[in-house]
Amino acid sequence: MINERLRNAMNEQIKNELESFYIYMSMAAYFHARNLDGMAHWMRCQAHEEMTHGMKFFDHIHDRGGKVVLLNLNQLKTDWASILEVWQDTYAHEQFITGKINDLITIAREEKDYTSEPMLAWFSKEQMEEEATAGKVLEQIKMIGDNQTGIIMLDRELGARAFPPGSPIDPVSYSAAT
Ligand code: FEO
Repeated sequence: MINERLRNAMNEQIKNELESFYIYMSMAAYFHARNLDGMAHWMRCQAHEEMTHGMKFFDHIHDRGGKVVLLNLNQLKTDWASILEVWQDTYAHEQFITGKINDLITIAREEKDYTSEPMLAWFSKEQMEEEATAGKVLEQIKMIGDNQTGIIMLDRELGARAFPPGSPIDPVSYSAAT
């Protein structure tokens, strides 16, 4: 049985992950509207990952006899002043989520909920990768500045990110399934 304090915090984390899904989809819409479909694609892939992160917590709580409670989502942000601001927010958001994962690890240790440690360790590693990736794109955007050719090249590069197979956010996949 999952520890009650940890269960409550994990239910909060489902909300955080689904809010992450939501903000990355808002960023995808921002990029699509500016014909930066590669960056939009990257955000859609990211949103997919956030949804699966939420589901990992959903299943973990359920598998351990806890009650899953889906909390209200906040609308974090829907518009940005620049491409740079989007990537600044992406990096800052991943740092925020890393802090939340660290809080969960602290609670698990304080409550001696050792069963949750492997999945929380997975999230810790995942956050390290996500911060590194978002931070690298942010630095490249800073280097590019207002150079339109550089933006187009980076857009193409980010458009090469692979969608997880069968993703419901992948237009190719959902068109084939319906
Ligand atoms: Fe699921 Fe990017 O945090």
